[in-house]
Amino acid sequence: MPPKVRGVLIAGNWKMNYGPKETEAYFRAMAAQAPSLPSDKLRACLIPPAVSLATAQHLASQNPFPITIAAQNAHWELKGAFTGELSGPMLKEIGLSTVLIGHSERRQFFGETDETVRKRADSLIAQGFEVILCIGETRAEREAHQTEAVLRRQLDEGVSAAALSSGKLIIAYEPVWAIGTGLTATPGQAQEAHAFIRGHLKKTHGAIADKIVILYGGSVTPENIDSLLACPDVDGGLVGGASLKPESFLALLSKVGRTFW
Ligand code: 13P
Repeated sequence: MPPKVRGVLIAGNWKMNYGPKETEAYFRAMAAQAPSLPSDKLRACLIPPAVSLATAQHLASQNPFPITIAAQNAHWELKGAFTGELSGPMLKEIGLSTVLIGHSERRQFFGETDETVRKRADSLIAQGFEVILCIGETRAEREAHQTEAVLRRQLDEGVSAAALSSGKLIIAYEPVWAIGTGLTATPGQAQEAHAFIRGHLKKTHGAIADKIVILYGGSVTPENIDSLLACPDVDGGLVGGASLKPESFLALLSKVGRTFW
């Protein structure tokens, strides 16, 4: 297997699952099953819903292995009349330093646009957060051979030069047709999209593109993670369904550890 030069990040996005009690049970089960991570080049992250963030952050500080807790979204303003939103300072107050932005479900169901994605990412990065910024094409766009055009637009309009050069930006490529469908992109499709993303960033922003961590998301499982990560431009996984059980989240981590280190 080729060495993973940028390390590997496995992030589990719980979406709208697990309140504080279930979060506690999850961490208890995880701690009982795994005393450590298989490599210090492997990084684990969980992304619980807002109401469970403080509990998860507290439990993560007692977890036998390091695990980053990230929020599923945050606003670009620091405070004010934005009902239903979370601010960076609130997340900092409970110890968080990573936020997911622009998930396709936010774009599809809640009116998120490339412009609001860029505003959120830029503000959070300026506040010192690490941002995982999601992009990806729908099935109709892929079938219309628009994949590269869509990715190009999402990068050009959603990702600023300041975000890229901060060293705090992670890109997640999540083809919408692969999310929750069991239809994983083939390693060839994933590598093609990831290489396009890196190549486009290189063209527009130069050598920094080689340092950007690009995660793949969409029906990642312990069974397919190693073939996806064997692709040179795939630096980790953004995992939905398979992160909901501690056993399968841990299976993902240990599969990566066994395969790459
Ligand atoms: P699934 O792994 O359930 O396809 O979800 C992917 C995803 O949207 C992670 O953010």
